[in-house]
Amino acid sequence: MTDEDQRPATTTDGGVPVASDERSLSVGPDGPLLLQDHYLIEQMANFNRERIPERQPHAKGGGAFGTFEVTQDVSAFTRAAVFAPGTTTEVLARFSTVAGERGSPDTWRDPRGFSLKFFTSEGNWDMVGNNTPVFFVRDPMKFQHFIRSQKRRAANNLRDHDMQWDFWTLTPESAHQVTWLMGDRGIPRTWRHMNGYSSHTYSWINAAGEHFWVKYHFKTDQGIETFNQDEADQMASADTDYHQRDLFEHLEAGEFPSWTLHVQIMPFDDAKTYRINPFDLTKVWPHADYPLQEVGKLTLNRNVEDYHAQIEQAAFEPNNIVPGTGLSPDKMLLARGFSYADAHRARLGVNYKQIPVNAPKSPVHAYSKDGAMRIAHATDPVYAPNSYGGPAADPQRTDDGGRWAADGEMVRTAYTLREDDDDWSQAGTLVREVMDEAARGRLVDNIVGHLLNGVSEPVLQRAFEYWRNVDADLGSAVESGVRAKADETDPKAGEQANKARSSMQDKA
Ligand code: NDP
Ligand code: HEM
Repeated sequence: MTDEDQRPATTTDGGVPVASDERSLSVGPDGPLLLQDHYLIEQMANFNRERIPERQPHAKGGGAFGTFEVTQDVSAFTRAAVFAPGTTTEVLARFSTVAGERGSPDTWRDPRGFSLKFFTSEGNWDMVGNNTPVFFVRDPMKFQHFIRSQKRRAANNLRDHDMQWDFWTLTPESAHQVTWLMGDRGIPRTWRHMNGYSSHTYSWINAAGEHFWVKYHFKTDQGIETFNQDEADQMASADTDYHQRDLFEHLEAGEFPSWTLHVQIMPFDDAKTYRINPFDLTKVWPHADYPLQEVGKLTLNRNVEDYHAQIEQAAFEPNNIVPGTGLSPDKMLLARGFSYADAHRARLGVNYKQIPVNAPKSPVHAYSKDGAMRIAHATDPVYAPNSYGGPAADPQRTDDGGRWAADGEMVRTAYTLREDDDDWSQAGTLVREVMDEAARGRLVDNIVGHLLNGVSEPVLQRAFEYWRNVDADLGSAVESGVRAKADETDPKAGEQANKARSSMQDKA
């Protein structure tokens, strides 16, 4: 038997053998095509529908499957089955950039998404974090505007540093995250060499019903490695998909990256009096106040087989919360609880949880039925309450996404300020106490390089002030760096950026 004999015969999507992979059906060799060549039509129609809308933010990414193994006993803090000592759970991970489109370079300076879906015995638990412990804004009303400012302008469809800095400098709470982004960690060398953080505060509930506040830190076991701006720029043209390739090739070679999960745990009542609002996403909890406690190990060990089916159609959502875990009063987190499922319904359709990569591996007894692309069978009775043995909610088996007390008038205000709640201090600590002299030098270079890319004079002035608020010396170094380089390179560049900006404002 030859290899040729062993190949399966091509079929249509309906399983019917086809006559040719190469020739369409025509009337004579030079004649018109025939409508009954429905295999040709199926090929064209399928091709025309291959693309689905890309994710609005975080469009470019890749991922893999793996396992999470609990190595420490944290049952005093959570009753979640996924954190029970010795438990191993299958996981899907997806890493991404935020602003770039589906084909954009992996090495652009940007936060990286760090999404995990744990297929637990109590349903799916999703940890949809970033490689940074904080975020640019603290109110969800600003999120959409923030993302638009990082993407493309309306008229010319170009990305625009003036737009980015305009937003950031008018949004002082962004300073901590922007400092982080402009520092060394703003461009990870690979996805394997970065940490993942929940950033948000979540809740844990133990078997006795006691609540704790928790932040998740997945620390890379490969060590932190980063690209400087030049290396990243070169890689962007040499290999647009470098991070995707790196992960895929390491897994193919049997070199499995891992991360150790640590948590910071805050007793429930501390949140009322802690000197920093512990739900403010622009702040970390200093380790000295709440040290890291080890929980377990995440290992990625299996590449996906079909990128579209298993990564492009993956649907992560922070509202996938299992018993023993919950949300918190972080307004950003609460808004995300709505936004992701809505995005999935728009991008993938109402039955997106039945796509195999999103389907729980624990039993589903839901009352949802029908809708486009429904695969699972609904069963009678189709309503509750019923007297025919249908599923009945069991309050003992849920913590309802976490519980806390809330009272007050309906308002549109920022969080109440605590003693140490300001927008600049933690960014300043990062610059002065975490970075060394050389890292501060690279921070200045990165900021100066970014600002010299078409940022108009009024925005530049605000940027100098912004960095002075983070750290006086940093602000001065940024200002003199920008002025010196602008004179050196093109004295007219700033002027031209101003003109471009005024003409945009005139049009508006
Ligand atoms: P610590 O000295 O205990 O922690 C400093 C943290 O900074 C470490 O987690 C370290 O990560 C991380 N780090 C090191 N270099 C950089 C860099 N170039 N860019 C970003 N992060 C870096 O101090 P505190 O907990 O008091 O925090 C001080 C500051 O450190 C914070 O204001 C915040 O900006 C930053 N930070 C704090 C984190 C937290 O959860 N407390 C987490 C990450 C950053 P590693 O151990 O991996 O080297
Ligand atoms: C993706 C909304 C804040 C991490 C997305 C998507 C939306 C969204 C709509 C696209 C989802 C999809 O189509 O699959 C929001 C809103 C936010 C917010 C409304 C604030 C109010 C954050 C924060 C983080 C984060 C704070 C990290 C801590 C991610 C990640 C993805 C993503 C990692 C990609 C998910 C994936 O891999 O598929 N976000 N987001 N987002 N977001 Fe957010």
